[in-house]
Amino acid sequence: MSEALFALQDFLLEQSVVGGFGRLGYQLRKAHWQPLPEDLSQRVMIVTGANSGLGYATAEALARRGAQLILACRSAARGQIALERLQAETGNVRLQLELLDVGSQASVRAFTERVAAAYPQIHALIHNAGALMHQRQESPEGIELTLATHVLGPHLLTALLQPQLAAAGSDSAPARVIFVSSGGMYLARLNPEDLQFQQRAYHGTQAYAEAKRGMLYLAQLWAAAFVRQALPVAAYAMHPGWADTPGVQAALPGFRRLSRLILRNNAEGADTTVWLAATDEALQNGGFYADRALRPRYRLATTRSSPSEIERWWHRLGELTGMPLPFPLALPVTLPEKRTED
Ligand SMILES: NC(=O)c1ccc[n+]([C@@H]2O[C@H](COP(=O)([O-])OP(=O)(O)OC[C@H]3O[C@@H](n4cnc5c(N)ncnc54)[C@H](OP(=O)(O)O)[C@@H]3O)[C@@H](O)[C@H]2O)c1
Repeated sequence: MSEALFALQDFLLEQSVVGGFGRLGYQLRKAHWQPLPEDLSQRVMIVTGANSGLGYATAEALARRGAQLILACRSAARGQIALERLQAETGNVRLQLELLDVGSQASVRAFTERVAAAYPQIHALIHNAGALMHQRQESPEGIELTLATHVLGPHLLTALLQPQLAAAGSDSAPARVIFVSSGGMYLARLNPEDLQFQQRAYHGTQAYAEAKRGMLYLAQLWAAAFVRQALPVAAYAMHPGWADTPGVQAALPGFRRLSRLILRNNAEGADTTVWLAATDEALQNGGFYADRALRPRYRLATTRSSPSEIERWWHRLGELTGMPLPFPLALPVTLPEKRTED
């Protein structure tokens, strides 16, 4: 197929949503992809939520290529089962289980202390752990758990592991921070005035979509922070499409029943995460990807935040994590679109 026809097909899949997010999109697009590097044995990578679904599939694909992996899981029992299965299936023995509840800041701090002491270099930090929670819950620090798990935990992990990421990266091959977002974020806008659903009724899918929208800003703002500090680290966000994982089966049984025939398998859903972690192709720092291509950040004008809202949101993250960081951009905000190879 010619490049022009492929671009047209890709555009139509993207517009249709169902075609692009389901298995068909993956199947049609993959014909144009380059093979991934086969030898990742020189890289140390962290995968959060590595014991199930997309996280497991991500870890499996990276382990098959020889990467040294830290499986960051909240359950020792589920993590151990995943570790043993991954070792048996991939033959990679350089896998380590480290306990991490990404929704707990105490756990994040303890995890980063252990990891920083053991691994001076980290080439990729993959923020995959996540869940759609239908009831409002709070973290050990008393913070609404969807925000704590998808936004505050990854933000704090990234902040605390900056030295190890910077030590692993180079100008030609930056270390990578990857935020696994969701297409659900297309329906949401940041709400910096009520991040924790204290002024509104809690709705799980809304909280999830706002947190996943936040992950796109985290990728952009961390990309800017790395550029500003001249660190050889890049940040990306992605969405996996719709995959038939244990998470979807548990949280969205009705959706799963209706869409079962078009859902991706776990490896297909994890593909773009693996690609972002492994590829030598040029990537856009701060970019938002799906099926190995940049995708629009917005489908609805009403979901765009103003520069001052984005700045307030960033400062709220600093307050809630006890780690205030300077806003990495000057106002008026121009979010970075710097290419990593520049
Ligand atoms: N599947 C899809 O179609 C889809 C679409 C868009 C986005 N996503 C995103 O993809 C990611 C993976 O989801 P999945 O579908 O693979 O679901 P999954 O099978 O339920 O896997 C989620 C993983 O995250 C872990 N996790 C959840 N909360 C955690 C916490 N506080 N600390 C540490 N680990 C935690 C889970 O651990 P436990 O086993 O201990 O619960 C599990 O390992 C999530 O971020 C999800 O939002 C998925």
